[in-house]
Amino acid sequence: MKHLLKLADLTGKDIDNILNLADQLKYERKNGIPHQVLKGQTLGMIFTKSSTRTRVSFETGIYQLGGQGLFLSSADLQIGRGEPIKDTARVLGRYLDGIMIRTFKQSDVEDLAKYSGIPVINGLTDYCHPCQVLADLMTIREIKGSLKGLKICFIGDGNNMANSLIAGAVRCGMKISIACPSNHRPDEALVKEGFDSGLLTLTESPLEAAEKADVVYTDVWASMGQEKEAAERAKDFKGYQVNDELMSKAKSGAIVLHCLPAHRGEEITDEVMEKHAAEIFEEAENRLHAQKAVMVTLMKK
Ligand code: CP
Ligand code: NVA
Repeated sequence: MKHLLKLADLTGKDIDNILNLADQLKYERKNGIPHQVLKGQTLGMIFTKSSTRTRVSFETGIYQLGGQGLFLSSADLQIGRGEPIKDTARVLGRYLDGIMIRTFKQSDVEDLAKYSGIPVINGLTDYCHPCQVLADLMTIREIKGSLKGLKICFIGDGNNMANSLIAGAVRCGMKISIACPSNHRPDEALVKEGFDSGLLTLTESPLEAAEKADVVYTDVWASMGQEKEAAERAKDFKGYQVNDELMSKAKSGAIVLHCLPAHRGEEITDEVMEKHAAEIFEEAENRLHAQKAVMVTLMKK
């Protein structure tokens, strides 16, 4: 593994190795065992979109590993004034040891990897959110013991989260059922891969998707960059909500995950959020451990 650009580039074994390392790093962190294996290294963190979890977990994560993080808002970089990504990449590659980038276009992340010559980690694009799904898989494994054979359902927009969940579930042998309106389907190539694996089902019915699910997952109806479409989307996604009725279809003991931030009263009710807060905030914590595992895997010299 040279980069983490999308989960589809990884094998099931790669994912398993990252999750095992993440568990180890979490154990060490909880027990005060230092693990400064990236001492002296610098991670550049380019943000073209807002972030709470990704920024703070990467910045503290690289620090705990003995390195330092540089927060680079694209508004303050020359990228914001039109310097091409391939030039920026060739410059940053000479200063830094790794780059995390959150932006719109997946092709910008791919170009950064192509031209920088150092490990690049995708911290979310319109297409996917691999770091989030690694933390999600870590959380599910931690609570349920294993991944293979479990059923996860995703309720809502066929967005970056849905795309990465398909790629992750298929590689870990999990059944995945997605409920979305027909005009908001996930990426068609991933849908095809999911269908070919026999693990994916796609439906317009949230209740059908939730049937006997072990894990119930949802995300906002309007992602970053889609703020202007929010009213239209609220109409399209009416009924695509994780609420008590939907939870009654899932297996008893089913867990709820949300990448956050959540819009209570839209994709999830306050009641379900609060009832499942333990899992949801463990999931948020696991961003730290899973991303530290990614950085160690890619950057350890
Ligand atoms: N889930 C997630 O990526 O959160 P942030 O947008 O706060 O980074
Ligand atoms: N789909 C959301 C995920 C946020 C973590 C977005 O892209 O805004």
